[in-house]
Amino acid sequence: MTQEPRELTELLAIASRAAREAGQLLRSARPEHIRGKSNAKDLVTEWDLRSEELIRTILEPTGIPVMGEEKGGARGGSQWLVDPIDGTVNFAHGLPIWCVSIALELAGQLVVGVVNAPVIGWWFEATRGGGARDGAGEPLRVSACTELPRALLATGFPYDVSGAHNNFAEWEHFQRVASCRRLGSAAIDLCLVATGAFDGYWERHLGPWDMAAGVLMVVEAGGTVTDIQGGPFDPHSGEAVASNGAIHQGLISELSRVRS
Ligand code: IPD
Ligand code: CA
Ligand code: CA
Repeated sequence: MTQEPRELTELLAIASRAAREAGQLLRSARPEHIRGKSNAKDLVTEWDLRSEELIRTILEPTGIPVMGEEKGGARGGSQWLVDPIDGTVNFAHGLPIWCVSIALELAGQLVVGVVNAPVIGWWFEATRGGGARDGAGEPLRVSACTELPRALLATGFPYDVSGAHNNFAEWEHFQRVASCRRLGSAAIDLCLVATGAFDGYWERHLGPWDMAAGVLMVVEAGGTVTDIQGGPFDPHSGEAVASNGAIHQGLISELSRVRS
């Protein structure tokens, strides 16, 4: 299904309204009633649930199914992908690095993305082919860094770090060959690749709602996004490597070295 630019603009406006209203709700929140989800470190607050409910009331009238982190939804070729709070651990601790992330996947293509980090005042939006912008309407552009030793990278860790793919070896390796940060919000990490603050990012064990909006920002800001092996990116695969393009092959090669 090909969308006319005008339709994408309208769908972006709907996603923006949902992200803005959820941001307003969450800004005033005191994160109470925190409880463990899959394990004690994977927190879900009543605010994750309230945010997703609010977002659903705005997106559902479009007739496009909604897949959200807290309330699920069947996977089809076309759906809204919603993370009602990305960075819940930060949110629950009063650390303002968290956001609302909403993307639209149509016929397997990411076409709309909005990320709203209301406490720090960051807003990012993108449409396929229409570019990515910040809240002031300024276009996003990836960095010009060409060398890993000068690069600033971001990553994250799964809640369950007992498995082999816990990212510890990769983290140690990239702290040696580059510089790394862990902010605690995959969507914000990706947006910061799009702004050029980060030169690259990798992560595994993600949900489609974590990555989808941020990945569109990176692509529309002139960057590259693939799977861990350098193959085509799939929002439902759980993994992403994103970069400014110039360091992408270096990132992929180093990732394969860590695993061999
Ligand atoms: C988490 C964040 C974090 C990433 C985790 C995600 P949540 O999402 O994006 O940066 O490392 O893997 O699960 O649980 O805060 O929505
Ligand atoms: Ca998330
Ligand atoms: Ca979440």
